[in-house]
Amino acid sequence: MKLRPLGDTGVRLSALGLGALSFGTDINEADAALVIDHCLDAGVNHVDCADIYGGGRAESVLGQLLHSSARRDRLVVSTKVSFPTGRGANEGGSSRLHLTRAVDASLRRLQTDRIDLLYLHRFDTRAALDDQLRALDDLVQAGKIVYPAASNFAAWQVAKALGRCEQRGWARFAAIQPMYNLIKRQAEVELLPMAQSERLGVICYGPLAGGVLSGKYVGAEASGRFVEDPMYLARYRGIDANRVAAGLVDLARQAGAHPATLAVAWAAAQPGVTSVLVGGRSLEQLAPSLAAGQTDFSDDLLAAVSALTPQPPPANDRNEERR
Ligand SMILES: NC(=O)c1ccc[n+]([C@@H]2O[C@H](COP(=O)([O-])OP(=O)(O)OC[C@H]3O[C@@H](n4cnc5c(N)ncnc54)[C@H](OP(=O)(O)O)[C@@H]3O)[C@@H](O)[C@H]2O)c1
Repeated sequence: MKLRPLGDTGVRLSALGLGALSFGTDINEADAALVIDHCLDAGVNHVDCADIYGGGRAESVLGQLLHSSARRDRLVVSTKVSFPTGRGANEGGSSRLHLTRAVDASLRRLQTDRIDLLYLHRFDTRAALDDQLRALDDLVQAGKIVYPAASNFAAWQVAKALGRCEQRGWARFAAIQPMYNLIKRQAEVELLPMAQSERLGVICYGPLAGGVLSGKYVGAEASGRFVEDPMYLARYRGIDANRVAAGLVDLARQAGAHPATLAVAWAAAQPGVTSVLVGGRSLEQLAPSLAAGQTDFSDDLLAAVSALTPQPPPANDRNEERR
């Protein structure tokens, strides 16, 4: 498994990371231990969670596993806060009030004294940006988080935050976590170039587009969240995802690989990407994704994969001179 620099922090991350979204729901604690150990054996050195996953159960299971073994210091541990964790008026968002409480709650569930990478899970337009960034800096100064980071932000939102942190001497984002896969390529337009220019790590999620790029729906009736979960139905509405998956299945067959392996390897190979988070509801599902860390596909094959979907249009409309 390749190691890649997390921006200019000096930290090195494996090209694949483990997403713990299913811990405590589809994956019980015993199986989660097998998954983590399997990933460590495969060279994965970071695990990603969020306070909302399984209503806190994912963090609790992860915490139990980190606490009861020597795994903690072999892993860069990230989590995310900001989506609502309860019905109360202040149980969500990125106000100083919620960030402070949410980080303490995550630390308790994770049974650790620090979060290596703490993401704001989304951009909060209600709380003043300076307040959010200063609260994050205070959490860094207090030793509760090592690096702040941002997920699901637009590039301008990240750039604005970086500018404020530079002006004020606050700890800057070390990484961004965008959705990125062969079907959802918006990150290529601004986020990936911005991250390269600003020396930010890019840790992508959703490499299988909710499972469709595993190829399991091609010519078959299959179950899974891509066809069952309203969030995924809304996210991919109007997109002929199965046509893309069919093309991927074809290319993967020619290469003698699983489509999931090719889809994950494709995302990991794109310029600016530091690491790709792989996820699944079982070790069996995860295996082909993890195989991407041990497989080298040719540039020609990766270009053929890219050609299955259109490159998103550039960020401005004056393109006549572009070559
Ligand atoms: N920052 C964010 O907002 C955000 C959002 C989502 C995820 N994440 C992070 O990214 C990680 C990975 O994201 P993701 O789980 O959404 O990734 P994904 O690659 O889009 O989807 C993974 C899903 O695809 C299906 N799948 C995976 N391998 C398969 C196989 N071999 N055969 C058939 N189906 C397969 C499974 O769902 P089914 O069995 O239901 O089909 C699995 O849960 C998460 O654990 C989390 O850490 C972050």
